[in-house]
Amino acid sequence: MRKPIIAGNWKMYKTLDEAVAFIDALAGKLKETDKADIVICPPAPYLATLVEKSKGLPVRIGAQTMHEEVEGAFTGEISPTMLSSIGVEFVVLGHSERRQYYNETDESVNRKVKSAFEHKLTPIVCVGESLEQREGNATADIVSDQVKKAFSEISEKDAATAIVAYEPIWAIGTGRTATAEDANEVCAQIRAVLTDLYSDSVAQAIRIQYGGSVKPGNIKELLSMSDIDGALVGGASLDPESFTALAEAGVNV
Ligand code: 13P
Repeated sequence: MRKPIIAGNWKMYKTLDEAVAFIDALAGKLKETDKADIVICPPAPYLATLVEKSKGLPVRIGAQTMHEEVEGAFTGEISPTMLSSIGVEFVVLGHSERRQYYNETDESVNRKVKSAFEHKLTPIVCVGESLEQREGNATADIVSDQVKKAFSEISEKDAATAIVAYEPIWAIGTGRTATAEDANEVCAQIRAVLTDLYSDSVAQAIRIQYGGSVKPGNIKELLSMSDIDGALVGGASLDPESFTALAEAGVNV
């Protein structure tokens, strides 16, 4: 069985004090475990502090985006080496909000995925269709294309360690979750694409998360599905009680 990975994407929420209080609240709630990977992706200004604060807790830290270059005149951007130098281990790439508001394309996502691997960061590669695309029965084509482009020129060895997050755009922040069956169907399609790109053993190693209105009340059913190996959670990851319940669901799959 693949190890479940539960990740909280805080997006642009919380002050530093709130972020620190969240980690303090997890201490004592989350027990040390190797049964699941538990990741928090806070806003960039808190990354270093949360890497330090989460030492001794079963929580690892991820960034929400990064630039693909190591350094340069890119005002406001954050490089992969900056992230790895402070102990960040994961990076969310190609989130639909980045694609929608910050012009990220399949090509720029691919450059970032390559760069993440070069700098020893584990990418969480986000893919997903819009409501219009779903209603036009284009989900499989859209998601397959996003996966193929994101993994272009990525070696088997690196690919096997990647995380893919299937996040249907219409389910993000809307309270409208895909049914567990629908989510699993797309995750299985993603795995089939990865089998074609690499091999069955590589595709079987890659963990695929579902994201989109995941909550303590629906995570168990989602994680019980054959091709869903975790969750990428926005809103319900902001509260320590709720995040602990989500993490526990990952530990107890
Ligand atoms: P919600 O869980 O708030 O729907 O957000 C999902 C998401 O975008 C995680 O990256």
